[in-house]
Amino acid sequence: MKRRQFDTLIIGAGGGGLRAALQLSNADTSVAVVSKVFPTRSHTVAAQGGMNAALSNVTQDNWHWHMFDTVKGSDYLGDQDAIEYMCRAAPKAVYELEHFGVPFSRLDNGSIYQRPFGGQSQNFGGDQAARTCAAADRTGHAILHSLYQQNIHAKTHFFDEYFAVDLLKDEEGHVLGALVFNIHDGEIIVIEAKTTLLATGGAGQLFRTTTNALINTGDGLGMALRAGIPLQDMEFFQFHPTGIAGRGMLITEGARGEGGYLVNGDGERLMERYAPKAKDLASRDVVSRAIATEVRDGRGCGPNKDHVMLKLDHLGEAVIQKRLPGIRQTCITFLGIDPAETPIPVFPTAHYTMGGIPTNRYGQVVVPVKDTPEEPVFGLYAAGECACVSVHGANRLGGNSLLDILVFGRAAANHIIEHLAENRYHLTMDENSIDKAMENLQRWDQKGKTDGESVSQLRDELKAVMEEHCSVFRNEDVLKQGVEKVEQLARRLKDARIDDQSSVFNTAKVEALELDNLMCCALATIHSAYARTESRGAHSRMDYTERDDKHWMRHSLYSLESGLDYKPVRTKPMSVDSFPPKPRVY
Ligand code: FUM
Repeated sequence: MKRRQFDTLIIGAGGGGLRAALQLSNADTSVAVVSKVFPTRSHTVAAQGGMNAALSNVTQDNWHWHMFDTVKGSDYLGDQDAIEYMCRAAPKAVYELEHFGVPFSRLDNGSIYQRPFGGQSQNFGGDQAARTCAAADRTGHAILHSLYQQNIHAKTHFFDEYFAVDLLKDEEGHVLGALVFNIHDGEIIVIEAKTTLLATGGAGQLFRTTTNALINTGDGLGMALRAGIPLQDMEFFQFHPTGIAGRGMLITEGARGEGGYLVNGDGERLMERYAPKAKDLASRDVVSRAIATEVRDGRGCGPNKDHVMLKLDHLGEAVIQKRLPGIRQTCITFLGIDPAETPIPVFPTAHYTMGGIPTNRYGQVVVPVKDTPEEPVFGLYAAGECACVSVHGANRLGGNSLLDILVFGRAAANHIIEHLAENRYHLTMDENSIDKAMENLQRWDQKGKTDGESVSQLRDELKAVMEEHCSVFRNEDVLKQGVEKVEQLARRLKDARIDDQSSVFNTAKVEALELDNLMCCALATIHSAYARTESRGAHSRMDYTERDDKHWMRHSLYSLESGLDYKPVRTKPMSVDSFPPKPRVY
């Protein structure tokens, strides 16, 4: 089997992976980036509204307010040391991007344009802070392309359209790379690396209606779980309030930041009822619950009263074309309507995996060891949506995702550079770990197998189960049935089959491996949700409607071997006083 050696293997070529790769290549270390799609097709390209940083270009602002909003937005489950680190680093991260060539929108005075987003403080003279730095509504697109070009310049080594199957280790459990295969021709390669960074993004494909690309199948999360690393806080899945109803395409929160608002079937501005101060710019969990409640209580729009309307026409065509050209085009293409004239039908849509692979603020993957809450896993790092650092806690603020991937992609790379200085040689791989990864890959080589269920059928069922049993509102019965159904699907997957047995562009095999990963994520999500008997952030239990700080101010950890465990929230910031839990109102 072919083997390649690098200082660092990065799996995933979105913003987190590429920011880390750039830092490492510029430090003259050898870096391989493995991506199952061409890098600029990674899901960061779909991020629309922007990236938060307290620049004070439009309204007075500072990182401390950004930190407070993020802690409050997380419903006090976010780790305050990591949140402080991220919010303090934000302005520098934006200016760095500007120097990499990101074409941010501009104010008349030439500084970077910032718009208000959900959950941003109203403490400066009553105005909502405008903290989200935007390149119209194509911010992720602009960032990803600039980072890719910078990496080409820095001579990062790309393995485009390679699929990473599993992590590889030595006998002591140190992570030493991964087994990957080339989707073009099926060639299998062992990539040996002194450090491995998982930056594979989220798992939005767990749900039927999602803003996420087809590639968002939780691959890094599945790899981590199979490697014995528990997943943290997976019960917290974000539903974006404004996906196009029934279809899922994202209509950016920036649309409300520019002055758009939601109306129900009676023509009322519904958010006045749920968030009298912040209204349409309350945090996402609050707005999503409001829409779901309106629909449940019969105040929805359309013949089936199953959505609400996002009204933008009062903004005028010029503003919409200048600030929101992407979502205007999406509406014209997919709905045949122009939002400059007609409101957009919207409904909460699966958007973001708040949980993930537990890390500290240096990007090191951490696991509980004996009596300690966490110790780093030698050689393994994670950044971006697949990681849980945890800056988002129970509910992420819009605009903090691009920030997270850039700040922690860079932080992980900086720690890797230190690690490489002290660990100069490749360790010896345990051949059994390669055999195990090969087994997981070759289980789908099934020439002649005609029995067993089809992968696509099982995937469709899984998405329907997750949507029905683990959505915006949850309760004991619904979750219990969900646990049983997902467990049953996981058993059925063991005997599933694919028909395509060729080695050239075998997308059926890729989809089967992706379903293995999604199934891991589904188990972690539904078990963690069933166990958490409180309402916090995006986890809203109809049978436990209150937040319960006494029992549940803790992170969940789900592992395949031992089920659920918990660890404390890091409530102490790095240098400022902590923000104690308070009732969360907007
Ligand atoms: O609404 C949006 O533009 C999405 C932004 C985000 O998820 O941060």
